[in-house]
Amino acid sequence: MSQLFSPLTLRGVTFPNRAWVSPMCQYSAVDGVVGEWHRVHHGAFATGGAGLIIAEATGVLPQGRISVACPGLWRDDQAEAWRPIVEFAHRQGTRMGIQISHAGRKGSTLAPWADHVTATAEEGGWETVGPSAVPFEGYPHPRALTTREVAALPQSFAAAARRAETVGFDVVEIHAAHGYLLHQFLSPLANHREDEYGGSFENRTRLLLEVVRAVRAVLADTTPLFVRVSATDWVAGGWDVDETVSLAPLLAQAGADLIDVSSGGTVATATIPVGPGYQVDFARRVRATGVPASAVGLITDPAQAEDVLERGDADAVMLARAALRNPRWPLAAAESLGEVVPWPVQFERARTIRR
Ligand SMILES: Cc1cc2nc3c(=O)[nH]c(=O)nc-3n(C[C@H](O)[C@H](O)[C@H](O)COP(=O)(O)O)c2cc1C
Repeated sequence: MSQLFSPLTLRGVTFPNRAWVSPMCQYSAVDGVVGEWHRVHHGAFATGGAGLIIAEATGVLPQGRISVACPGLWRDDQAEAWRPIVEFAHRQGTRMGIQISHAGRKGSTLAPWADHVTATAEEGGWETVGPSAVPFEGYPHPRALTTREVAALPQSFAAAARRAETVGFDVVEIHAAHGYLLHQFLSPLANHREDEYGGSFENRTRLLLEVVRAVRAVLADTTPLFVRVSATDWVAGGWDVDETVSLAPLLAQAGADLIDVSSGGTVATATIPVGPGYQVDFARRVRATGVPASAVGLITDPAQAEDVLERGDADAVMLARAALRNPRWPLAAAESLGEVVPWPVQFERARTIRR
């Protein structure tokens, strides 16, 4: 059997395969509530054979959203709107996760297809916050959070995680990548604080570890907790791979079950050598510490995905744009690897290989 279509168990959850859908913002929620777009979008992945679908960056607070049209989990009705989506995915044999997030200084935007980036107050925008009053290029100056405000953040993440679990999500992923708030705290480029949340490695990682512990404390023992990190800022003087490798076991001790290894996002001008599987080596280095890891980033081809897993570079692969192009990528990948996996019965006649 291929590695890609072998099951994986983390805590009490068995994923039927290791072809997973990476979180992707859809900028299509209203007041933080998901609707018909999300039902169809996730329905396509759920009928496409993915082992796990991770729903997009979802704000733990109104000011934690990336855009005015991103979903939220700071109210119960926002969680309830996900319930039919999660239940449909479960009926297809697919697991569902959600990425809980705070955008920090990269928040208060419009959807990327709008004619300007930052939302005005009339458009629903807000004053952004960050570890320090240092802006992301082209964005407004954020307000530096007070120490007391920082110390309250883990409870916001925990409340969102609880709501996610209540409506049936199998996995919660904490977003600590791509230059959003938790990554802003990790990176010396965005974090110039002089309190216990800034300066040393121990201080810069404090908030994320507090968030992981707070979320773990409210989740069932059977629910896996993932953390997405950016392994490197790709900028000298920024967060780097060695720090990520040091952080991974600390995240695991705090209660994380898998590190989803991405990169970049702190600095708009970073030069990133984008190419096939360009972040896989970071996942390999994290996994070498003994902590389960997933690989993401230009993994597009079934044989390539299978190689990543066979080499032991990652426990699972995540696909974003390839899954948007073809939400049934896993079904097609199974056929190209000669595997006969369950298909929705409604699609049976479209199989090209049968047992
Ligand atoms: C439309 C779109 C939305 C995205 N939104 C998110 C997000 O909400 N959270 C996140 O961690 N990454 C997000 N990403 C990044 C992807 O999850 C993924 O890491 C990246 O696209 C690289 O994988 P790929 O080469 O398979 O597309 C997004 C990517 C795309 C294309």
